[in-house]
Amino acid sequence: MNIRAARVEDLAGMQACNLHNLPENYTMKYYLYHAMTWPSLSYVAEDHKGRIVGYILAKMEEPEEPLDGSPPAEPLHGHVTSISVLRSYRRLGVAKKLMVQSQEAMANVYNAAFVSLHVRKSNRAALSLYRDTLAFTVKSIEEKYYADGEDAYAMQLSFKQ
Ligand SMILES: CC(C)(COP(=O)(O)OP(=O)(O)OC[C@H]1O[C@@H](n2cnc3c(N)ncnc32)[C@H](O)[C@@H]1OP(=O)(O)O)[C@@H](O)C(=O)NCCC(=O)NCCS
Repeated sequence: MNIRAARVEDLAGMQACNLHNLPENYTMKYYLYHAMTWPSLSYVAEDHKGRIVGYILAKMEEPEEPLDGSPPAEPLHGHVTSISVLRSYRRLGVAKKLMVQSQEAMANVYNAAFVSLHVRKSNRAALSLYRDTLAFTVKSIEEKYYADGEDAYAMQLSFKQ
């Protein structure tokens, strides 16, 4: 498996992988927006024939500056919009590598203070990846975050230590 930065020509493969794996889907315009705006934050895993078998789609969140001149409530940080790996390529460390690549770019290219994401309360595989493997912590529970009414854990990993 080869892990590399996502290019515009990968976006259809990323979208296909997303449609296979997750009920949270996005328009091609939204993929393009990520690739054009934060080209160093999204990565793909490709097999030996160059087929996309996993991806991470990520962005930066720039908190709004309050009008009274006080500092923003949250510092500049990265956010994982979506990550998935095709079923037959799971438990090989692909998602971990995709996460680490994107996190490094968030910290080094954008000087992000932390990375955030949302995960379904019932998603044991993803929760274990974030909490046990990557050391994310749960910051809050967002009730009925998903379209089907399931709650999300809002998780974060600080880059400061
Ligand atoms: C979650 C997902 C991205 C993990 O991808 P992956 O490439 O299989 O993950 P990795 O091989 O990098 O796993 C790293 C660690 O995460 C944890 N993990 C991954 N899958 C797991 C599972 N099914 N059960 C328990 N722990 C799991 C383990 O701690 C694993 O380390 P280990 O294999 O040494 O035990 C993948 O299962 C997936 O695509 N799921 C559907 C889409 C999805 O839920 N995306 C996340 C939305 S928030």
